Amino acid sequence: MIPNSIMSQDTFFITTAIDYTNSAPHIGHAYEKLLADVIARYQRSQGRPVYFLTGVDQHGQKVQQSAEREEITAQEFADRNTALFLEAWETLGVRYDGWAATTAPEHKAVVQAILQKLYDEGQIYKATHTGYYSVRQEQFLTDKERNEEGEFGSEWGEVEERTEENYYFKLSDHIDWLKQFVAGHPEFVFPSFRGKELVNALEKSDAIDLCITRPKSRLEWGIEIPFDTDFVTFVWFDALINYISFAGYLKAEVNPEASGLPDFETLWPANVHLIGKDIMIPAHAVYWPVMLHAIGFPDEAMPRLVVHGFWNDKRGAKLSKSEGNVIDPLSRSKRFGVDGLRYYLMASIATGRDADFSDERIEEAYSQDLAKNLGNLLNRSLNMPKRYRDRILKKDADYDDALNREIREAFEALPQAVAGAMESYQVHAALEEIWKCLTLCNQFVEQTAPWVLAKDESQSARLDAVLYHLAEAMVHTAFHIAPVMPETSQRMLVQLNYTFPGGFCVADLRWGMLPDGHELGEGKPLFPRLEPS
Ligand code: ME8
Ligand code: MG
Repeated sequence: MIPNSIMSQDTFFITTAIDYTNSAPHIGHAYEKLLADVIARYQRSQGRPVYFLTGVDQHGQKVQQSAEREEITAQEFADRNTALFLEAWETLGVRYDGWAATTAPEHKAVVQAILQKLYDEGQIYKATHTGYYSVRQEQFLTDKERNEEGEFGSEWGEVEERTEENYYFKLSDHIDWLKQFVAGHPEFVFPSFRGKELVNALEKSDAIDLCITRPKSRLEWGIEIPFDTDFVTFVWFDALINYISFAGYLKAEVNPEASGLPDFETLWPANVHLIGKDIMIPAHAVYWPVMLHAIGFPDEAMPRLVVHGFWNDKRGAKLSKSEGNVIDPLSRSKRFGVDGLRYYLMASIATGRDADFSDERIEEAYSQDLAKNLGNLLNRSLNMPKRYRDRILKKDADYDDALNREIREAFEALPQAVAGAMESYQVHAALEEIWKCLTLCNQFVEQTAPWVLAKDESQSARLDAVLYHLAEAMVHTAFHIAPVMPETSQRMLVQLNYTFPGGFCVADLRWGMLPDGHELGEGKPLFPRLEPS
């Protein structure tokens, strides 16, 4: 069941958490999918093949209960919300390669094959348990979950006492392995402070087994257990497997007819499992590596977790339906444009940290960083050649000076600077590097004052050089912003009347791509003035 050539790392495989179809997409969902999309597009721009998998988590008690309230089937309820996610990602330009919807028969077949294998090997057993159960979190609670008053806090929702027969996965058998693995692989969790949290959690907690079934008498909406049809699979055990089932794991064995599944050997292990901080422990950093280890995946085939922080409201409070402060990403993309939202979400948070979502700050980013520092600069870079040179650029004009050189060298150093930031998924830092270059360009316009040069025939060569440098800088900028703002990048290139050749990647990027005699296109505002809200 284990691929032999697990280490083929040619394809950059990035996955995200699969979103619960119990709700419509919110800003947290959008942020995570966009961050993954930006990383995927960035990796493609580096000339690397990429596979980006995302999707929806459709099973579980919450979906069943919500469906019952609305008197529709769980499938109908899940499908309806799934459509909202599909639509949102389409609108926001989340360009994924694989869609993991957990009610897909191919996924069920893999989950059942894994359950059967673990059962046959004695890694799953049946037992009776009595305890307190959180309906909201779909889990039995232990004393660890009690707060200082000795009670289960409101975060657990309704808590009730239950006795239940279920199947258990022998998680405890593998905890020593996990401790050793984590100690020996600090790269397993990014950022490293989250890795330290994991080490601490493993030290403190007792090794207990994981209940992986729910009796159908109370939950029908799940994947049936292959060896006991009175039970369905616990939603987390089902959901985590999406990362391999939709990557083509066991394709030949259990899904020989399925089309569209990728080749597992080319993808696994995932270069990035992008998840939020709330689902790191225990789901992704304990259950998941242990599940893979129990199935037989070697240590080298463990994925890498990249754990992002949370968006809170503008006062720093947690976003929640009950508080009524949930933020709808589509209303913001309507107002600020898709790229306005993408830019704000990427520029205003350090990956791993939390941030506060503020409409004042998104407005400020739009008018300062985008409309002024980028949009206005592009406009000047097109309007001055139009006014003074009939839109025609002159390359290799005999003129060079320190100011030109400064611009050139800044853009020549930019790929490295961006790569340095992107290596640790710090999109905001990559954007800062790009915007430093834009600041230089804006200063360059002020310092060279082309409108003065244009009045002096003896400054003609210098004017040509200035105009060329500005236009060329805009082409480079269009390349570098493309992962975060693909649409804006495209619009810039149209206005510059330039197209990158097919298969163009960062290695092909060099100063002087605009040919001598290049004719620029028509300038149009990239970021129109906002309507008053
Ligand atoms: O947890 N800010 O689904 P989910 C940033 N189905 N990210 C946020 C956020 C916020 N305010 N709120 C949620 C689930 N997220 C499971 C995952 S994976 C096998 C199954 C992130 O819809 C959250 O951390 O509750 C998670 O990574 C993702 O959104 C989906 O959350
Ligand atoms: Mg890979």
